[in-house]
Amino acid sequence: MQDLESVRAKNLAAIAAAVDEVALEALRVAVLGKKGEISLMMRVLGQMTPIERQTAGAPLNALKDEINSALVARKAALADLDLARRLETEWLDVTLSPRPLQQGTLHPVSQVTEEVIAIFADLGFKVAEGPQIETDWYNFDALNIPPEHPARQEMDTFYMARAEGDDRPPNVLRTHTSPVQIRYMAEHGAPCRIIAPGRVYRCDYDQTHTPMFHQVEGLAIDRGISMANLKWVLEEFCRAFFEIEGVELRFRASHFPFTEPSAEVDIRCSWVGGQLKIGEGDDWMEILGSGMVHPKVLEAAGVDSTVFQGFAFGMGIDRIAMLKYGIPDLRAFFDSDLRWLRHYGFATLDMPTIHGGLSA
Ligand code: DAH
Repeated sequence: MQDLESVRAKNLAAIAAAVDEVALEALRVAVLGKKGEISLMMRVLGQMTPIERQTAGAPLNALKDEINSALVARKAALADLDLARRLETEWLDVTLSPRPLQQGTLHPVSQVTEEVIAIFADLGFKVAEGPQIETDWYNFDALNIPPEHPARQEMDTFYMARAEGDDRPPNVLRTHTSPVQIRYMAEHGAPCRIIAPGRVYRCDYDQTHTPMFHQVEGLAIDRGISMANLKWVLEEFCRAFFEIEGVELRFRASHFPFTEPSAEVDIRCSWVGGQLKIGEGDDWMEILGSGMVHPKVLEAAGVDSTVFQGFAFGMGIDRIAMLKYGIPDLRAFFDSDLRWLRHYGFATLDMPTIHGGLSA
């Protein structure tokens, strides 16, 4: 029988020096495997007398247990080492600032359109749309603007070309969103409550005019609707939109072919040091046209004007965007200048609604 102490010392040292699990497993087989060093020594025990076996067996079993424990402990230590090494190399500094994200912005026209829709939705108005290329009947005649009417000239209309020999009146780029009134009533009848935001076109260009701009049309038709309803709806809208509780509107008698009576609506404002402030001061700024829908308009859309009446209004979206957000020049809206878009654009939807409350 070999000297147990030297077997012990040799193997414990080898286990302590094993660098990975593969080496450790090779050692285990070499010592405790079928033909391992200790297994072979165990076999010798079988050939001894019972007395000899008692003295030789106990230390050999103890050594076997000790080596087994050493193997298990070294395996655990190697796993710990491995984990520590990975933690050392695979780390991430979560305090580093992220790479800057290229973020786009919402155009003021989109933002304001969404705000207008949200506020009127709270008041029970649906959104309706119509085509940007209109027949002259929808854009003019149905709205009580016959061919010789001066309003046709005032509108700076863009006419579409007709094919040679086609002498029907030319189609137009719609000069206002009012034709959506006709289309909606003709399709859905009365009663109805809609707003119609969208693009409109007029041949005009200066600081406050561009050939394409945006309007929102409003229409409420029912039995027994009056100017009082119009006034309340517009006041409620302006309070929510401009976020001014005590907003003041002025209804000025005016004329539109498609309404009778007609009113232009001004909002109270002040100009202090070239700075426009809505809701205070002694100045008035025109923001929209409105009135009671003309019976002829109702009839053109197939609505019985002896039963139904209602109000309509038309408002410039770009114009109220300029007023609310202090944007001085309309032309810049459509220049696609990134510096302008980043400055006046909106990062998230910040929508005042009547239910959401006023933030000012
Ligand atoms: N269509 C008019 C324009 O473009 C605005 C307008 C005025 C619309 C009065 C209306 C209204 O519905 O009642 O200038």
